[in-house]
Amino acid sequence: MLRPWEISPGIRKRRTGLPETNPTPKGKKLRHPAPHAAGIFGDSADMREIRPLKEAGIINGVTTNPTLLKRAGADSRKAAGRIMREIAEFMAPDPVFLETTETERSKMIAEAAQLAAFGDNVVIKVPVGGYRSLQEGLSGFTGIEIIHELWNRDIKTLATLVFNSSQAFWAANAGATYICPFLGRLADHMYKHDHPERTPGNSLYFMVDHKVPAGGTDRVENTPYVAVDGERKDAGVRLINEIVTIYNNYGIETEILAASLRNAVQVMECLVAGADIITVPANILMGVADHSLSDAGMEAFIADTKVFDK
Ligand code: G3P
Repeated sequence: MLRPWEISPGIRKRRTGLPETNPTPKGKKLRHPAPHAAGIFGDSADMREIRPLKEAGIINGVTTNPTLLKRAGADSRKAAGRIMREIAEFMAPDPVFLETTETERSKMIAEAAQLAAFGDNVVIKVPVGGYRSLQEGLSGFTGIEIIHELWNRDIKTLATLVFNSSQAFWAANAGATYICPFLGRLADHMYKHDHPERTPGNSLYFMVDHKVPAGGTDRVENTPYVAVDGERKDAGVRLINEIVTIYNNYGIETEILAASLRNAVQVMECLVAGADIITVPANILMGVADHSLSDAGMEAFIADTKVFDK
């Protein structure tokens, strides 16, 4: 767990400067007590999961990606498009995040415009990096350029596949409305590449899996992050805290959307670290109201009501 003195002191100021998550409707007497709470989104493309979570007031947004669409049954671009449109219409006016699948600049822009036309609540997910590794000749700046171009066109973006604060800074600088650090994948990576001699911390940049991308040069990555259950269990969350600190330092309003969550404890750690939004898989969200002592307490209360029915 982050120690109190390590937590960015600017979290509260930052949150109150951002749009309200739970606004109180005009004319309503009882003000919502958590106007600046972190947003909780559903990380799913499956309407069977999204519908009950939305109707219960658990989520106020949805994030999708090609993997989630495939898991939800999409077996063609047309089918993926149909599912994305359905989610966007169902969730409106709450935000829905739809990802670009093209890698070539003009095709990415055209696809983003097409997806954005599904509704005013659509935000376009643009992978911040990974292009140079994918295909020789692709620019390492592709993600940054697309984010900036979409900002020019007044289309909201989320920079996805963020694994360090450098990516988070440059995406914000290009005009990203949101950035999306993948905590669980950092953890998975570290489980495979744990080096106990290294000190955790996002300011430390190590070479892990030293692989030079096609046409690229050497690069360093900050990967010493382990999420819950490791010795350095809160390291993924430290990335959130570091990005919060950098954004606070410069008054950057890009929202930090924590993703790739593996368990409920990580959700709470993200709240401590100051994430603006946390996107959570449905199976984790389904248990938010569970506790074994609540089970026992309810059983006792309900058993005692029997006396009222005599
Ligand atoms: O929103 C991004 C998320 O879906 C990635 O999660 O579990 O594939 O690492 P995961």
